[in-house]
Amino acid sequence: MSTQQMKAIDAIQEAQKIALGPFLFQAVVSLRKLGVFDLIFSKRKKGGISIEEIASELSISEYGVGVLLEIAESSDVVVKNEVGGFELTKTGYFLTYNETVNVNLNFTNEVCYEGLFHLPEAIKTGKPSGLKVLGEWDTIYEGLSQLTPEVQQAWFEFDHHYSDGVFQEALRTVFKGNPKSIFDVGANTGKFAVAACGFSEEVTIKMVDLPGQLKKALANVKNNGFENRVTGHEIDWLSDNPSIPEGAELIWMSQFLDCFSKDEIVKILSTCVASMSDDAELLIMETYTDRQKFDNAKFILEATSLYFTVMANGNSKMYAAKDMIELVDKAGLTIKEDINVGEYHTIFICKKK
Ligand SMILES: C[S@@+](CC[C@H](N)C(=O)[O-])C[C@H]1O[C@@H](n2cnc3c(N)ncnc32)[C@H](O)[C@@H]1O
Repeated sequence: MSTQQMKAIDAIQEAQKIALGPFLFQAVVSLRKLGVFDLIFSKRKKGGISIEEIASELSISEYGVGVLLEIAESSDVVVKNEVGGFELTKTGYFLTYNETVNVNLNFTNEVCYEGLFHLPEAIKTGKPSGLKVLGEWDTIYEGLSQLTPEVQQAWFEFDHHYSDGVFQEALRTVFKGNPKSIFDVGANTGKFAVAACGFSEEVTIKMVDLPGQLKKALANVKNNGFENRVTGHEIDWLSDNPSIPEGAELIWMSQFLDCFSKDEIVKILSTCVASMSDDAELLIMETYTDRQKFDNAKFILEATSLYFTVMANGNSKMYAAKDMIELVDKAGLTIKEDINVGEYHTIFICKKK
């Protein structure tokens, strides 16, 4: 229902939910961290569990359990049954056990929560003004390999969650033409390189990334026994004249271009075009805001854009496919195929014009 048709009483309730949203969010984080949700769930077949029992089992005060469950109950995260026992609602269940919700919640709390306070400044300056709470870098990517373990884990789980699931399906598209030499641009932890080497015994991969990240990716590749077929190429795409070697039959970019502004994307793609032969292909895999079937997927992408604004680099976002199509064209590429992968992803197969 649009807010224009909503009754004022409902609209003010919605407004208050937003005004006080951080209280509910942190209450949920606390209920998870303190083990209250797990305990409530474990008692679901025993008529729920009371505040007193929760307090005693988890050695926290009844006051503490009470204030947390009060707001959780009025927000439909838990429900109190007729005998005073608490149970998880469906929403409470998803907040505790749904993988995507978990990954998003940890990413929000560990990586973004404190820094989001600086969003107005980030919008005004075009800089990731919240990043200073994690470290003194120009972009989060320079600091990825130096983040604290909790922040790093939340960042990598968020990143991997949205690509791991589609890699196997994506590999079938990548290897349709049986390429022997692939450049993985934005290789991150080397997960794609490892998966690709597992998929084809003949392929060699060159991972292209910032020095700190590349070191980690190469170590991961070695742990998986593929060091003879995978090499690295250090690059900072934001430097003056970045370049990549020639010789790739296929250039792979997964969830990479969203880390850059529109002008930077054209610069990156044009640099790749300069290294490509007429037969080479460049594959871009992204999640686009205008290609989502579900509103909640679009909402996740919109929140991710604000992460880029305030924490990552200050000037990139999750793009609409129609924007990327324009940028690809500007860089001297044409899209030969436009393929849906999994529920959320799209692959553009591009060639030189
Ligand atoms: C979102 S991750 C890509 C994830 C990976 N391709 C996947 O699909 O899971 C973005 C990658 O781009 C790299 N990156 C960001 N800024 C960069 C820059 N200025 N130069 C080179 N690489 C950069 C990061 O180090 C990171 O590995």
